Amino acid sequence: MISESPWWAESVIYQIYPRSFFDSNGDGEGDLPGITSHLEHVQSLGADAIWLSPFYTSPNKDGGYDVADPRGVDPRFGNLEDARALIKRAHQLELRVLVDVVPNHFSDQHAWFTEAISSKAGSAERKRFHFYDAKSDGTPPNNWISLFGGPAWTQIKTSDGTAQYYLHLFDSSQPDLNWENEDVASDFEKTLRFWLDLGVDGFRIDVAHGLAKENILIDHHDPEGLSNALRLDFEMSSEERGELLASAPFFDREGVHAIYRNWRRIFDSYDREVMAVAEAWVHPPARATRYVRGDELQQVFNFDLLVAPFDAAFLFQCISSTLEMLRQVDAPATWALSNHDTPRVASRHGSKASRALALFVLALPGSCYIYNGQELGLPDAQLADSDRQDPAFFRTKGLQKGRDGARVPMPWSGDKTPFGFSSGSPWLPIPNEWREFSVSSQNTDPSSTLNLYRSALKIRKNRFVGAGEIEWVDRGETGLLSFARGEFAVYLNTGTSAIEIPTVGTLALGSDREVKLANGTLSLPAASAAWVAIR
Ligand code: GLC
Ligand code: CA
Repeated sequence: MISESPWWAESVIYQIYPRSFFDSNGDGEGDLPGITSHLEHVQSLGADAIWLSPFYTSPNKDGGYDVADPRGVDPRFGNLEDARALIKRAHQLELRVLVDVVPNHFSDQHAWFTEAISSKAGSAERKRFHFYDAKSDGTPPNNWISLFGGPAWTQIKTSDGTAQYYLHLFDSSQPDLNWENEDVASDFEKTLRFWLDLGVDGFRIDVAHGLAKENILIDHHDPEGLSNALRLDFEMSSEERGELLASAPFFDREGVHAIYRNWRRIFDSYDREVMAVAEAWVHPPARATRYVRGDELQQVFNFDLLVAPFDAAFLFQCISSTLEMLRQVDAPATWALSNHDTPRVASRHGSKASRALALFVLALPGSCYIYNGQELGLPDAQLADSDRQDPAFFRTKGLQKGRDGARVPMPWSGDKTPFGFSSGSPWLPIPNEWREFSVSSQNTDPSSTLNLYRSALKIRKNRFVGAGEIEWVDRGETGLLSFARGEFAVYLNTGTSAIEIPTVGTLALGSDREVKLANGTLSLPAASAAWVAIR
């Protein structure tokens, strides 16, 4: 049953990358008991829920997004008892729990794939994946390119001498599942129920736009030649990315929606408010609303802010159009400034601007996602190529550095790396300069980024949630963006010089110490934001 305002409508959801949160046993990798023992950090931040990136049985070729058993915990992370304890502790702290579900592909170590490659072409075992014969000249069935670079097909030769290609939109160790196969659909229903029965409150759905493939033998027709560049490339312009997404024959097909309508019936069969958020990179952006129609999922990620420049006019465009779009399907907006796939916001915009942007975004209606370490103002780490693990680095032959820089473990305490994260050697090195970012060094400093987030989340929970829509005042033309919402006026200055704004009211929160309100004038320095209580 969904009450009038479900818990997720304006929730703050904290993303935990389990491998990098806290290591409880000194093997250098974060784990479930490590998370459980540090959930108070999330509670003291003021979040409402956690989303756990995958911790399932996996050979870990793609940070666990290569799942070998979706209903098992990888021993590196602990066991099922640890998962149960984590969920229980989270609930005691009034934190809901979302887990990741990865339905586009399995790992090549999943029992089904092992069975498939030891079975004949055309067998039931192969039909759970996308196996096809080579073209007559021996080349792959079509020209699709993996999102991590290189062809989306790998050839398997079997003992009976036959050779077929299988499809993988990501790494060759991540064979795509065939969603027209009944086994696939029913196995995922089992997985959803398994985690719901264990007590989770919902799911983040990986590559939610990719499950249905139409016309699999048709080449990716792409007059601009962009398919050659089809890969996770965050340096691409939004136009390029848009064209690419819109032209890809394996994304955002009609068939995905029947799957989510079915899942929704499962969610609604539980007597608590279960929700799911879709990772759907689609174009044009309005296509995203199709995933959150009344009988489908509850939220869809909006990725605009992950790639947006720090520019008021641009931000106005993406925020206002998102709100407008979602109003039409009556779904809440979602906002994310960082995640495990993109360069961190502090590296994209610098420390000052990223604090300002966060403060501005936290005042918006909808749900806010915070990626672990974002609340510490962590930048991306500079890594040596020899430390990199992202398959995108290897498949593009180093052309792209990949996503490891945003996945370096959290600094917790102490003067030296690894700053309390582990008693061993962390799986990615934590830079020596990260002392100032650690939780303990920020904990009692009132001007720290951590305390900015804590203050913002507290005010947000008490005074913004439920305050309804926003009324734009300044639309970014002069570098100033502002709106009124509930008791507040909210300002963001993306320009390079200070702005003075006549105002009535009191300063509730500024993104840094230079933001001041005195004698009826708000001083908003370059790259800053403010919440002013006007009522
Ligand atoms: C999603 C995940 C990413 C992963 C990919 C393949 O985009 O967020 O980390 O590599 O899917 O599962
Ligand atoms: Ca560990």
